Amino acid sequence: MARISKSKNNAAEIPQHIAIIMDGNGRWATRRALPRNAGHAAGSETFRRIATYCRSIGVKYLTVFAFSTENWKRSAEEVQGIMQLFDKYLHEAIEEMARDQIRLRVLGDLTRISPELRALIEQTDEISQEYEGFQANICINYGGRDEIVHAARAFARDCADGRRTPEDLTEAMFSGYLYTEGIPDPDLIIRPSGEIRISNFLLWQSAYSEYYFTDVLWPDFDEAELDRAIESYHRRERRYGGAQ
Ligand code: FPP
Repeated sequence: MARISKSKNNAAEIPQHIAIIMDGNGRWATRRALPRNAGHAAGSETFRRIATYCRSIGVKYLTVFAFSTENWKRSAEEVQGIMQLFDKYLHEAIEEMARDQIRLRVLGDLTRISPELRALIEQTDEISQEYEGFQANICINYGGRDEIVHAARAFARDCADGRRTPEDLTEAMFSGYLYTEGIPDPDLIIRPSGEIRISNFLLWQSAYSEYYFTDVLWPDFDEAELDRAIESYHRRERRYGGAQ
């Protein structure tokens, strides 16, 4: 049973932006003698559930790592299964977004994504552009280093075209070249499944984020686990490099 409620919500208590590395789907499936894609399907349901919960307690942004620039190394069957889950989710989300005023963005290098899925991503992006409630960001073909290189290239292009000079560049301006443009940095980053590393996720944006690691596998992650993560976040003192 969830303990953190919206009535208790205030800016100090609820992180504005939570990011999650959705890890452990494969192990969850293997432990049940199921194909790996059954784990991803279960993980997709967990994402829905946690997004609904985040919205209900007043989190403003939820960003999830769904497919990395390295995940193409997996079998064609697994990659195709994950892409089908994205397709299914986005189709279903169209109705939900309008009903609940949810902004949905897909972040990453979409050039390698099939034209059909890319068209669907563009459609959901366009439909939800004006919705100002909760925002879900799904990272697909995303890599933190890739994102920084992509941003540096875009800035260099603007310099070459005469729109900017190297001296113009500030941290805030550089942030505007990232896929996460306009999205505040994550307050809390959660990684389930017992791995204690960041795996190329939001490298620039996580400079001052708090981390929460848990052994729970992503398909088993639930509202109570999110409450534990938020409670742990409450106990941290965020100093952003300042003195105690
Ligand atoms: C990592 O677990 C998970 C992935 C690479 C895929 C995540 C995809 C989904 C949850 C499905 C679709 C999502 C949405 C938002 C609709 P892993 O396979 O590396 O797990 P393992 O480490 O146990 O093998």
